[in-house]
Amino acid sequence: MAAVLLLLYTEVFMAMKNKYPIGILGATGMVGQRFIQLLERHPWFEVAWVAASDRSSGKTYGEAAKWRLDTPLPERVAKMTVAAADPKGAPKIIFAALDAGIARELEPRFANAGCAVVSNSSAYRMTANVPLVIPEINADHLHLIEEQPSRKETGGYMVTNPNCSTIGLVMALKPIEERFGIEKIFVTTMQAISGAGYPGVPSMDILGNVVPYIGGEEEKMEAETLKLLGKLEGHAVTPLKAAISAHCNRVAVEDGHTESVSIKLGNKLGRKVTREDILAAWAEFRPLAGQKLPTAPDQPVEWTAENDRPQPRLDRNRGNGMAVTVGRLRPCGLLDWKFTALSHNTIRGAAGAAILNAELLASLGKLEPVVETVVRS
Ligand SMILES: NC(=O)c1ccc[n+]([C@@H]2O[C@H](COP(=O)([O-])OP(=O)(O)OC[C@H]3O[C@@H](n4cnc5c(N)ncnc54)[C@H](OP(=O)(O)O)[C@@H]3O)[C@@H](O)[C@H]2O)c1
Repeated sequence: MAAVLLLLYTEVFMAMKNKYPIGILGATGMVGQRFIQLLERHPWFEVAWVAASDRSSGKTYGEAAKWRLDTPLPERVAKMTVAAADPKGAPKIIFAALDAGIARELEPRFANAGCAVVSNSSAYRMTANVPLVIPEINADHLHLIEEQPSRKETGGYMVTNPNCSTIGLVMALKPIEERFGIEKIFVTTMQAISGAGYPGVPSMDILGNVVPYIGGEEEKMEAETLKLLGKLEGHAVTPLKAAISAHCNRVAVEDGHTESVSIKLGNKLGRKVTREDILAAWAEFRPLAGQKLPTAPDQPVEWTAENDRPQPRLDRNRGNGMAVTVGRLRPCGLLDWKFTALSHNTIRGAAGAAILNAELLASLGKLEPVVETVVRS
């Protein structure tokens, strides 16, 4: 018995010891806090470094961050000192949750210093040699890492995940696009206030109200969707050739972006696409099955049959916040089909997306050149 316990203890100890040490840039913000929450018991990654602006550096994380999540701030992280946002002394795997303006300057600095930068910001999403990746959708685009000069010089590189409203749309569209083709996409979003960071939209502007404008969001949603659904050809991605129009609105919801989507299908199937065809495409979409990535949901696109679902409060946490819920599939009077999609904007749409990207990178051995001798248990 004692020997078994000792073996168990040794295995647990080895597993802890062999986690990848990671750093979080922008650790005090909305997305940074989600990283800390989601990584607290992560089997492969351990938070070893947190950094933010000059306003926060030098303070303990507990002093610097206004913790907004509904699970307690982990004590170990609360005691950590917030570092300056400088690659010196930082771990070689960086989750970045910075505003785009500052990300544009800092992310390449970390990549050039040999870090794998797994970013949430929009700064480099549309840059030709930077992969914009959702593991279930376009894992092959990660090859673009090898096109980055920093990769050859120091081993470092940048990988991005999409905007929080894009990710729900693309997860719902991909199973349909690969079976039937898509020619036109029309989407209207109802986006949660946490998507604007903290403190975000003033309460006087959003309570009992809808704001029909989110700066730059429609353009990002349109461009990113076509890059994600595009094909890696040679050294670049050719975007999907489809017409797309996005309307983005901010609504008084805490977490969870809802989207009303209409689509015109292509003719890949060679016959009329039925409702059952689309439901089967969503149900059978499990591209990561068997890969054992800890954050990947078993069912990435979950169907809900009730007429009044999905709803943010009831459905955003499906698949631990990593599943996209679809419902209300019905014929569209303008295009072919219409439906509703919902995703958790700070989990699937931000921190969870980046963690899943890093898990994919680890499983492909693309973290090993930046971090030596880590043996995953
Ligand atoms: N919220 C979402 O749903 C969501 C979804 C997808 C993507 N994103 C993207 O993720 C990024 C972060 O969003 P957020 O909502 O977490 O924003 P946020 O709450 O405003 O947090 C911003 C973070 O950046 C830090 N920061 C600001 N200026 C800095 C500087 N000069 N040097 C170093 N750190 C600096 C802040 O540190 P201090 O606390 O010290 O100021 C804070 O930690 C953005 O690019 C956003 O577009 C957000």
